[in-house]
Amino acid sequence: MFITIKNLEKSYGSPENKTFVLKGIDCTIEKGMICSLLGPSGSGKSTLLNIMGGIDLAERGEIMIDGLHLEKMSQKELAEYRRKKVGFIFQFYNLIPNLTIRENIESGAYLSNQPLDIAEIIHILGLEEQQNKFPNQVSGGQQQRAGIGRALIKNPDLLLCDEPTGALDYQTAKEVLGLIQTVNKRYETTIIMATHNQALGQMSHISFKLHDGKIETFEKNVEVLSAKELSW
Ligand SMILES: Nc1ncnc2c1ncn2[C@@H]1O[C@H](COP(=O)(O)OP(=O)(O)OP(=O)(O)O)[C@@H](O)[C@H]1O
Ligand SMILES: [Mg+2]
Repeated sequence: MFITIKNLEKSYGSPENKTFVLKGIDCTIEKGMICSLLGPSGSGKSTLLNIMGGIDLAERGEIMIDGLHLEKMSQKELAEYRRKKVGFIFQFYNLIPNLTIRENIESGAYLSNQPLDIAEIIHILGLEEQQNKFPNQVSGGQQQRAGIGRALIKNPDLLLCDEPTGALDYQTAKEVLGLIQTVNKRYETTIIMATHNQALGQMSHISFKLHDGKIETFEKNVEVLSAKELSW
């Protein structure tokens, strides 16, 4: 199993005044799956995603990714894990304003031992014509695609997306989701998307619904829709 999570708990606050945000998460995710993490605001989606990405630490339970026990790793080992294994896509693209689109994408390659070819990534993203422009000279969707490119060029085993389409209009959101699907097929990247948008569940192989720090429902999709077929 690519990801195995057992009884994962996470709280914030002081020892006397703890609020549990994750209250015992159990799940498994196979390699190459697209998995959506649905649930209302505050249900713990980003917290879980950040723990999977080695950005945040759980306080109880086990989290094993590609044979690595994240809960047993030192800060240094976690940094190495983040660098080598994980790509992140956020709602706000966090591009560097004084680097071109191409240079922004390229910046992700330095983190990897086996980066993908920049020309190929730019082609898949459809950014050939924009590659020498600066972020403020291209559209929101194009910036988001560049953010995806920066995460992808590392060739990560695990791609974590937090509201990947939250800042995009309907058509652009669907394009970006199509791209995420293409990446999954082409590179067998395991992809986890945290989102409010129920429709994303239909393009995923599996979906979890979080409620109040627990997995409320788990569904395996019999018929996975292409991003084009989604509507919301
Ligand atoms: N660093 C932190 N310190 C204290 N509380 C936090 C911290 N990060 C998250 N929380 C709390 O944990 C809970 C879950 O937050 P989380 O960001 O995981 O939710 P979410 O499901 O991603 O919500 P949204 O859909 O709004 O992004 C919230 O109540 C939040 O206030
Ligand atoms: Mg969130």
